[in-house]
Order: sequence, then structure tokens, then C-alpha cells
Amino acid sequence: MIEPKKQSKNRGFYVRMKLLNHNNGGSRNRGLFCYRYFKWVLWFSLSFYFFASFLFNHKPNTISKTTVPQYSKASRALIEYPETQHHRDSLNGLKIYVYDLPSKYNIDWLSNERCSNHLFASEVAIHKALLNSDVRTLNPYEADFFFVPVYVSCNFSTVNGFPAIGHARSLISSAIKLISSEFNFWNRSSGSDHIFVASHDFGSCFHTLEDVAMADGVPEFLRKSIILQTFGVKYDHPCQKAEHIVIPPYISPESVRKTLATSDVNGRRDIFAFFRGKMEVHPKNVSGRFYSKKVRTVILKKYGSDRRFYLKRNRFIGYQSEILRSTFCLCPLGWAPWSPRLVESVVLGCVPVIIADGIDLPFSSAVPWSEISVTVAEKDVGKLGTILENVAATNLSTIQQKLWDPRISRALLFHDRTVEGDATWQVLHALTEKLSRSHHRSRVSNE
Ligand SMILES: *[C@@H]1O[C@H](CO)[C@@H](O)[C@H](O)[C@H]1NC(C)=O
Ligand SMILES: *[C@@H]1O[C@H](CO)[C@@H](O)[C@H](O)[C@H]1NC(C)=O
Ligand SMILES: *[C@@H]1O[C@H](CO)[C@@H](O)[C@H](O)[C@H]1NC(C)=O
Ligand SMILES: *[C@@H]1O[C@H](CO)[C@@H](O)[C@H](O)[C@H]1NC(C)=O
Repeated sequence: MIEPKKQSKNRGFYVRMKLLNHNNGGSRNRGLFCYRYFKWVLWFSLSFYFFASFLFNHKPNTISKTTVPQYSKASRALIEYPETQHHRDSLNGLKIYVYDLPSKYNIDWLSNERCSNHLFASEVAIHKALLNSDVRTLNPYEADFFFVPVYVSCNFSTVNGFPAIGHARSLISSAIKLISSEFNFWNRSSGSDHIFVASHDFGSCFHTLEDVAMADGVPEFLRKSIILQTFGVKYDHPCQKAEHIVIPPYISPESVRKTLATSDVNGRRDIFAFFRGKMEVHPKNVSGRFYSKKVRTVILKKYGSDRRFYLKRNRFIGYQSEILRSTFCLCPLGWAPWSPRLVESVVLGCVPVIIADGIDLPFSSAVPWSEISVTVAEKDVGKLGTILENVAATNLSTIQQKLWDPRISRALLFHDRTVEGDATWQVLHALTEKLSRSHHRSRVSNE
């Protein structure tokens, strides 16, 4: 999903987001009748979130240094709609303390607008959502977990605009020094009830090239903590050698809402199989590895002139409307197995075709991935056409019906004000299963 560029200094790698661009190709129009229904349900649910967050956020929703919760009694009452009524109960009384770090660790980076919108922006979104959440406590002595808000993905290169993450380790390590000297919560648990977000390619390894990431491993100072990371595989991997929760990449709910509201695609999924993004004709050997393990190259060579496939290599800002027009959306690995396409396909109703062996997908308790997607082994990518034809002729409508359940889309999007079932809520829910790590909880239950 991302292409690193080697800089002269060892750690100075830049990440290039793979970008998309687009237009038409094959023609298939299956599931047409469900489409309108889907679009409106989705549009309605999203509008509802925004309307709801607007109600709570009568004050601008900023991350302020004064860590005062922004809800008053009155606005709280508004939260009591069925969706969040049992918010706290369903989360087992979970309480999280959010450290108030100096602004250089987080909010200073927001001066660049991209920081809160790009595909690594869950580090910002989760922080915002926690500040606004009713699981947040201002009393660290009653907290089950401690959230350490350090934004490491917003140092955009002035040269090429890609985020440089070479400073990530030192920034986080200095934040830990600070909190462990000021308070005793880190030392008493060695950080095991502390939470960090690592939302770029190889998560807690903080490098964009897999071989370097693997060689560096998870920094010593994070090995006992809980890491929320987009990277996840089902096999043994040095970049998940810390307690972790796999989270989805960040897609702005606002961009999805806009696409749904403004696309005039009148219900037709006229594209059979869609992909827009980097596809190299002659992939380079980058320290023994080839981009996408050459999977994208095979797709381009084999299906580049196949009328059923709509494949584009250049960037196009309106690519979400293409997803909305597509039946199948290819989600092949890039350097890392995960891809923002996984989320965009699902929320725009296009069946994700996952081509990334061993990928560990986010929130499997809320998202029945095997029922809403098609998985194709990397070695079978040359048979993609036949495989998709076969699905289209047999179980496509079953898959689409499941895919278009609004609860699934909700689980993959982060909102500034968390709503029961959304991505931040799924993280909180996963944390309730790790309460045995809570120093506070174990002390209370021993008494
Ligand atoms: C941002 O990245 C550049 C290039 O890697 C680096 O020189 C600089 O120190 C980083 N800035 C911060 C504040 O860490
Ligand atoms: C926590 O441990 C570190 C390293 O041993 C020490 O420097 C620091 O003072 C300790 N913090 C507290 C609050 O005692
Ligand atoms: C790729 O490059 C590495 C050295 O970095 C080399 O050992 C390997 O044989 C090359 N692989 C191919 C398929 O060219
Ligand atoms: C759809 O059918 C294919 C075989 O044609 C099968 O491998 C796949 O598991 C089925 N998917 C679902 C969600 O039923």
C-alpha cells in the first residue's frame, strides 16, 4: 500500500501512499435492486453519526490542553439514544486515563491538515475519540488503562510529502521518559497497562521496509505495552511481538458520506473488478523483496486488457465513486499486507477481494470477513478472472447481502465522538478482554 523511498540516512525513509485513480471497464450489474437500499441505509447511518456528534459538540471539538470533558449534563442526555445507552455497561466499566502530554508530541502536528485525515490518522482519531468518550477518567488512580497520545505519522517530508517515521522511536521513548518520571503508573506495571497507536506499515517496528522493520523489531520500551496497529498477520512476525489489537486504517467518514451523497451513479455497479493504485511492470528488487511480491504486476499483465477489469495506475481524487460503481474491489498487498482499500470497499459496498496471504484482519468479532469478502491466495492471482466469475455466478448476492449490513461499515470507521459499535468502540471492546493487564483491576479484585 505504500512505497518507501530510500533516503541517504538509514532511518530517513519516506512513505508514499499509494494512490488511486480511475474509470470504467467491464460491465456487470449485479445486485442492482439492493443497491439503492444500501446507499440510503448507509447514507442515513452516517448522517445520523454526524448529526449526533454535532449535538454533543456544540463546542468545537478540539483537543485542548485543559483536559475537561466537553459534555454537560444536558448534552449527556442527548447521548442517551438507544445506540449508546449501555455504552459503559457493555464495556465492563472500562476506564481509561489519557495522558496530557506537551503539545510537541501530538497537537502541534495538527497544524498540517493532512495529519488528521490521511490513512495513518487513527493515531489522531482514537485520541480525539477517547478525550470525548465516557470511558475516559480524569483520575489516573481509578484507570484500567493509560493512553499515551504520540502522533508519529505526521512528519510529512517537504520534498515529496510522504510521512517520515524515522523520528518515531525517539519521540515515543521521550514521551515514556516524561510520563515515567512524573508519575508512577508506568513503573508499577512496566507499561503493561499502557496503550499506544502504531498505524503505519509495519506497526510497532516503525519502519516502512519489512526487512529493516523485522531486523529492528519492536523497541524494547514498548514490548510490554498494548499496541493498536494496522499491521497484522496470522503467522509469527517480529512486528507483532507485543500485546496488540489490529485496527483498520483510517478513512475519513466525512469523505465516505460525501461520496454517498454526491455520486450520481444511479445504482449501477457497472464495473466488474476494480483496482486503482501502484502496479509496476518491472518491480525492483529492494533488498531481496519485490513490491506486492509481484502480485500487482501479475494482475496488470494478465488482466490489463481484459474488459471485465478496470485497472488504473494513476492517482484520481474521485476514486471512491469508482468503488461505488464496482462489484469486486481488489485489495492486493503492497509492501505490507493491509490496505485502506479494505475499509473503502466495505463502506462503499464493493466486495473486497483480499490477496494478501496470512493477513490478520481487524475486529473479527464484529466483521465476519470470510462471509463478506473473497480471499484469493497470492499464488492464484493468475486465476482471478475465473475465481470472480465463479463467485458472481454462485454466491455473490449472499456475500453482498451480508456486506451491506450497516453495522459492519460502522465497525471500520473512527469518529471523533465514538458511537457504540464504531471502530474506537471495537478497540475499547477488545481492551475489556485484556483487563487482566490492568494494574488497577487486579489490585481491586485482590482486595
Ligand atoms: C522530520 O523528519 C525529518 C526527515 O527525516 C527529520 O530530519 C526531522 O528531525 C523530523 N522532525 C521531527 C520534529 O522529528
Ligand atoms: C521510574 O523508573 C525510572 C527508571 O528506573 C526512574 O528514573 C524514575 O524516577 C521512576 N519513576 C518514578 C516516578 O519513581
Ligand atoms: C534480489 O537482491 C538480493 C540482494 O539484495 C539478491 O540476493 C537476490 O538474489 C535478488 N533476487 C532476485 C530474484 O533477483
Ligand atoms: C463463495 O463461493 C466460493 C466458491 O465458489 C467459496 O470458496 C466461498 O467460500 C463462498 N463465499 C461465501 C461467503 O459463501
